Amino acid sequence: MNPPLLAVEHVMIRIGGLVAVSDLSFMVERGQVVSLIGPNGAGKTTAFNAITGYLRPRQGSIHFEGQEITGLTPERIAALGLVRSFQRTSIFGSSTVFDNALMALHLRGRAGLLAAFLPFSTQQEEERLREEAMTMLGFVGLLGRAGARADSLAYGEQRRLGIALAAAATPRLLLLDEPAAGLNPSETAECMALIRQLRDRGTTILLVEHDMAMVMRISDRIVVLNQGRIIADGPPEAIRRDPEVIRAYLGSAPQGGAHAAA
Ligand SMILES: Nc1ncnc2c1ncn2[C@@H]1O[C@H](COP(=O)(O)OP(=O)(O)OP(=O)(O)O)[C@@H](O)[C@H]1O
Ligand SMILES: [Mg+2]
Repeated sequence: MNPPLLAVEHVMIRIGGLVAVSDLSFMVERGQVVSLIGPNGAGKTTAFNAITGYLRPRQGSIHFEGQEITGLTPERIAALGLVRSFQRTSIFGSSTVFDNALMALHLRGRAGLLAAFLPFSTQQEEERLREEAMTMLGFVGLLGRAGARADSLAYGEQRRLGIALAAAATPRLLLLDEPAAGLNPSETAECMALIRQLRDRGTTILLVEHDMAMVMRISDRIVVLNQGRIIADGPPEAIRRDPEVIRAYLGSAPQGGAHAAA
């Protein structure tokens, strides 16, 4: 039997003196969109940081495709095919949208930024990558903006470019932390369509998102975190009706609100 794509087992994470995540266990199966939700401060971003190697758990283990990745560096983890999108930090604002896409493709499968400055192999290879960059921009609906400076893109367009740049690595698992934060309803719909397309192309998605309408529509499974521990794990219909989940959200603002600018 194949191991699950991602298995998080009994992970505990301290930040300073505080236990940010106390006992986190969940799995992600291939081909799904799994959402990790929970009120503010529940530990979602902390969990993402641990999975992608930016924080080391005090206890527990994380396996990716059966291989233990606990404590590996973010670069090693990304090279294995587990990638996260950063909100806007990975976009070079003064470069064109096209050059951003091309750079992401150059970096694919190479060991970090340094490799981007190594001389590129052949003219033919370069030509192929330029075509792929255009295909990628078409895929996220930014073909018409290829020649524009990245910092001239609208907010929703920048988000889609950010996802495209992460997707350029053709990850097997892509972690998205609040991709719809600050987006208007039509941008949110585009973002949702993009996530579905990525899944259909073989990228499994682990999503943190406060927009409950989006989470309920897009997720195959939802894992609910509250105060550093899991309180529910199941399909959207079951999560929607779960009394402990409803209680955890009472009085908090899961629909964006204070979070829209996060
Ligand atoms: N850098 C930090 N220094 C101190 N405490 C932190 C730090 N980062 C997170 N925490 C604490 O760890 C806990 C979990 O935070 P985390 O950011 O993971 O929550 P979250 O679920 O992502 O919340 P949000 O929905 O607001 O993004 C919170 O109590 C938070 O205050
Ligand atoms: Mg967070």
